[in-house]
Amino acid sequence: MKLQLTGGDVSGLRPYVFETAWEVVNKVGGIYTVIKTKAGVTVEELGDHYYLLGPYNEQSVRTEVEVIQPENKVIADVVASMREKGVKVIVGRWLIDGYPQVILFDINSHRHALEAWKKELWDKTHISTNVVDSETDNAILFGFIVTWFLSEFRQRVAEDALVIAHFHEWLSAVGLIMTKMKSLDVATLFTTHATLLGRYLCAGQVDFYNNLPHFDVDKEAGDRGIYHRYCLERAGVSLADIFTTVSQITAVEAEHLLKKKPDVVTPNGLNVVQFSALHEFQNLHAKSKDKIHEFIRGHFHGHFNFKLDKTLYFFIAGRYEYFNKGADMFIESLARLNYMLQSSGSDYTVVAFIIMPTKTNNFNVDSLKSQASTKQLREIVNHIQGKMGAKLFEKALMGEIIDGKDLLDKDDFLQLKRCIYAAQRPQLPPVVTHNVVDSDGDLVLNHIRRVRLFNDHNDRVKVIFHPEFLSPTNALFSIDYEEFIRGCHLGVFPSYYEPWGYTPAECTVMGIPSVTTNLSGFGSFMGEHLRDPSSYGIYIVDRRYKGVDESIQELADILFDFCKMSRRQRIIQRNRTERLSDMLDWKSLGIYYKKARYQALRKKHPEAFLLLSDEDTGVSIFFRMVSAVVFASTYSY
Ligand code: UDP
Ligand code: G6P
Ligand code: GLC
Repeated sequence: MKLQLTGGDVSGLRPYVFETAWEVVNKVGGIYTVIKTKAGVTVEELGDHYYLLGPYNEQSVRTEVEVIQPENKVIADVVASMREKGVKVIVGRWLIDGYPQVILFDINSHRHALEAWKKELWDKTHISTNVVDSETDNAILFGFIVTWFLSEFRQRVAEDALVIAHFHEWLSAVGLIMTKMKSLDVATLFTTHATLLGRYLCAGQVDFYNNLPHFDVDKEAGDRGIYHRYCLERAGVSLADIFTTVSQITAVEAEHLLKKKPDVVTPNGLNVVQFSALHEFQNLHAKSKDKIHEFIRGHFHGHFNFKLDKTLYFFIAGRYEYFNKGADMFIESLARLNYMLQSSGSDYTVVAFIIMPTKTNNFNVDSLKSQASTKQLREIVNHIQGKMGAKLFEKALMGEIIDGKDLLDKDDFLQLKRCIYAAQRPQLPPVVTHNVVDSDGDLVLNHIRRVRLFNDHNDRVKVIFHPEFLSPTNALFSIDYEEFIRGCHLGVFPSYYEPWGYTPAECTVMGIPSVTTNLSGFGSFMGEHLRDPSSYGIYIVDRRYKGVDESIQELADILFDFCKMSRRQRIIQRNRTERLSDMLDWKSLGIYYKKARYQALRKKHPEAFLLLSDEDTGVSIFFRMVSAVVFASTYSY
């Protein structure tokens, strides 16, 4: 490295940044959201020196990527060289805000190298991956191919060019490990969005937070059959020039479970422009709610004994992690809420959606049939309505007003009657929309059965478990997830294990109140920055210092109080919630990533940055700027 900086602004350095994650153009969970929503501000900062590296996934590429020839000569040469050696590489632009460049590797095109690479990994690091674990195999293939790419890039690019490789989560850790093992002249960062062990321990219902300093990490990882994964994760963390994580709570967890304190906390932001609909969001709520109403009419067809105008929609959504995501606590508090609404004589009905994908065999017949009957009824009514209009018009033309009893033909009357009779069904509206493969063992269904929330006529809380992510192409409930959130009244995310938790953050920027916990990164962040979060529609349940039963009651009380609000109060609260959007915008939070990247460069090239202070790198200036933005947005409301 010839570079010698003597002062001034390093933003002119324009390092090449390769951000690598398994979830680049590959939707799994929140990491996809991080990468996707951050792209806009990162491209703005780094321009054509910014590349996202990910795995090739045919279906996603077809719908999300514009495949192009590499625009940069060095990249073009590296890609050509790798292709010549049999690696399938796709270069393109991801069709999202920022239009970032992506380089995707088909790991299957080099699967034959797996054993050799496992051996190399063992020889260089003594991490054994001789286990049957396809996810780890994929991580190894992906990591070696990414290192191959970085190595060729480093060889071909100008000697004084700065190169940064940023790796997310254990699935990309092998790339970082091998970059270090091969001593590439590349500054490295590793961001963890959770710890493997943390997720496993919490899912096993241990008293996690009180025992954090005392876990025998090797033993715990071994007992859970994830020792090899844990080793990869920990090696990635410890070898990285800069280690970051998404929240303070996960920083503490990492310190104990991964034995390294993160250098920077990089809170997750959102692309607020993408969600902001100026003052339209209240209208959007009403419009989207109508769409949910339509589904509800169908689902409860034949048992429709509640008023939609007095119905509130609550929901939980996310990957199916029953304990970690707090589905257990949600269902339990719904049962209490049902009792509270019944005994207080409330005229409100709550429909609680549980959107968590699990294995299913299509929709259940009952759900399909009742939606179809409702549709048919709607069509018949529309038809009759047309005929009535024509009759009214004809008579009016003659200067007469039709007699009410002549409006409905005998045939129409019979047809309507038949439809109403057909809608009668002895069984209650189903609590689940699909045939769940393991219905008997399903944790959510069993909990619903245990608390007997069966959508009975007397129940003031109705439950609908939709075990598939929502999508506009869904034949039963055709709605976009974003539209669904907008149409609901409250998102409920009482997580026990949640390093950040995008779902409540997404509600916030769309002006929908939500419940979170003081064990989620998002909840703690909001708790730290807002004086009275609940007045902004951010309800933070205490799951850290209260017993389980107390926390459930706290949640049930929040839900009950929410049901007591008037429409006007809900509208005002939504306005306040939406005003928090700026706090969660990457435009302000992206600065932490910038800070981390410069720290990594500095660590990798201390000699080059010797004469530069933090001031010169602009880092502290930016850092102060973002603190000011967050502070201002916090206290000016
Ligand atoms: N999500 C979605 N459809 C759904 C429910 C959730 O696309 O029906 C997305 C949601 O928008 C969020 C992500 O899944 O961005 C979940 O991220 P989070 O950080 O909350 O949890 P993770 O799955 O990463 O643990
Ligand atoms: C928005 C719309 C109003 C509508 C209200 C319903 O604010 O702009 O026209 O009355 O939503 O609110 P609710 O909380 O009852 O769904
Ligand atoms: C992880 C965490 C989630 C976080 C997401 C993005 O998957 O479970 O809490 O929001 O990553 O950082």
